[in-house]
Formats: sequence, C-alpha cells, structure tokens
Amino acid sequence: MNFPEYRPRRLRKNDLFRRLIRETSLSVDSFIFPLFATVGKGVNKPIASMPGHAQLSVDLIVKEVQECRDLGIPAVLLFGIPDKKDGTASGAFARDGIVQQTIKRIKDKVPDILVVTDVCLCEYTDHGHCGILERNEVDNDLTLEVLAETAVSHAKAGADMVAPSAMMDGQVGVIREGLDEAGYENVPIMAYSAKYASCFYGPFREAAESAPQFGDRKAYQMDPANGDEAIREMNLDVQEGADILMVKPALPYLDVIRRAKEEFDLPVAAYNVSGEFAMIKAAAQLGWLDGERAMMESLTAISRAGADIILTYFAKEAAKLLRK
Ligand code: PBG
Repeated sequence: MNFPEYRPRRLRKNDLFRRLIRETSLSVDSFIFPLFATVGKGVNKPIASMPGHAQLSVDLIVKEVQECRDLGIPAVLLFGIPDKKDGTASGAFARDGIVQQTIKRIKDKVPDILVVTDVCLCEYTDHGHCGILERNEVDNDLTLEVLAETAVSHAKAGADMVAPSAMMDGQVGVIREGLDEAGYENVPIMAYSAKYASCFYGPFREAAESAPQFGDRKAYQMDPANGDEAIREMNLDVQEGADILMVKPALPYLDVIRRAKEEFDLPVAAYNVSGEFAMIKAAAQLGWLDGERAMMESLTAISRAGADIILTYFAKEAAKLLRK
C-alpha cells in the first residue's frame, strides 16, 4: 500500500485513534527507584546534580520507601555510603553495614515493597574501584569472594533480590553459588550484564561518593563501541544463573536493549542512569526542554526498545503522572 491509497495520518487524526493504535504503554509496574543510604539520623544531603534526590539516613529512607509503595512502585534499589572506606571494602559485607541496616529497617516498616541491592565495592573501597586491588589493578578473582559475601549478607538482612554491578568475570556464578549454599536459593539475581564504561554515571559518583581515585573503570566496564560483546556478556550471565539481564545506561544503548530482548528468554532491565536524569533536569531548569515530556518520552522509548523493567530516578515523578 502506498500513498495516496495509504495515508498513515488517518490513524493519527485525534487522541482516540492515537490511543487505539498505541503500541507501548508505560506502567508503574516496571519501575525500580534507586535510593542512597547514609549513616545517622535525620540526615538529608541533597545531591546537586540530581535535583530531588539526596543521601538519606535510614529513618528518612523509610519515608521515601513508603511514598514509593503508596505510588504503586514495586521495588527500590539500595546503594550505601559507609562512614569509612578501606582497602578490603569491609563495609560492603559488614553485618551492621549501612545497606544491611537499611534493608532490615525497610523490611520491618514497609514489608510490601521489594528491596533490591546493588552489589559492588566502589562505595566501600578507599580507592573507589569496584574491586580489590593487586599491584594497582583490580583483581578479578580476589574480588569474586568479596562480592559473594556481600550478596549473601544482603540476603541475610532480608534483601528480596541482589544486583551485581562490579563487572567482574564470573560474578553471577559465585553469587548464585554463595546464595544457594547459605540457603537463599529463592533470592533472584538481576545481573548488570552489559554495563558500559560511561560518562553518564558522573552525577551518581557524586551521590555515592564512589569516583575512582586513580584511573578509570575501562578495564572492567564495557567499551561503548561494542554491541556483540554485550551479547557475549549476557550469554555468560544466563549460563551463570542470572534471572534478569540488565543493560546500562539506557538511552544511549537502546539497540543493546532491543538485542537483549530478542536474543534472550529472560526479563530485560534497563538502567536510566544519573546522567540521563541530570541532562533532562538541567535542560528543564534552563527552560530549554519541557522536563515532564522529556521524561515520559525517554521512559516510553526505553520501554519500546524492549525493557521490561526500568531503573529510574524519575520513578516517583512518572508514577504520579501515570496516575492522572
Ligand atoms: C556501582 C554502580 C554505579 C552505578 C550503579 N552502580 C557507578 C559506576 O559504575 O561507576 C551508576 C548509576 C547511575 O549513574 O545512576 N558500580
């Protein structure tokens, strides 16, 4: 069918037609809201590059989580900022670590929301890298044990799901094994499978105080130029026991999200990262973009590309708009 027999505008004529043929409908059911836990009480340290977000102490996090629950958001993702960092990342797996305490408190006060934890060491090492150093390089296999111990400590504290993000080879396998041995065979793993060495994590590193003190993360996170490699990474994670595959960041990698959806038979998550959030907020503050529309268009595009789950700092704002 060609013009003038076929006229696509016929079905765009008004909102009723547009609704009728709409292919993607964004839902609050797919959102996960990230939160930054810090020690203390009544602490609210706003993150300059992420308007509306702050490092929060446990008491205030509980309030945020309640709000998420009331908005219908099914899950939150926890990051922790410990009071001290060291070479062994001991704060990551401490029984009374910041994330472990926060999980317990949330589970106690707001049992009807899923608590997902980021499993990585960068917030806990004094050098800011995602693993344990050996001769100034991140040692893969030394890091694996610590990641497994961290994931198990999260599960012990009550985490509903763990999300390894360190980009160490074999991390999903050792975490699966660790969880199973400790009796947590029913705790799923959402693997940050295709995590790129991206500049878009900039605002997060301010938020989580996790910027590397030397060098960068290119020796473990993926090269933004590679797509086929993402498939290899995801294949490994599937074999190692991942329950959900994640692509991160989201908007610059929609092609990778689409390939993940087409090539694997697992739910696909996309992380709409801090820099993607900050760009829209900054442009909106300057009056250069309509912030609400930019948010909804971005989230819809991530969903259209194939994401079943979207981790986003916009979750609360978008949930409010979707309710109207
Ligand atoms: C931990 C981690 C990072 C993000 C999520 N988990 C930072 C990094 O890898 O440098 C980034 C999240 C965001 O930018 O919103 N490694």
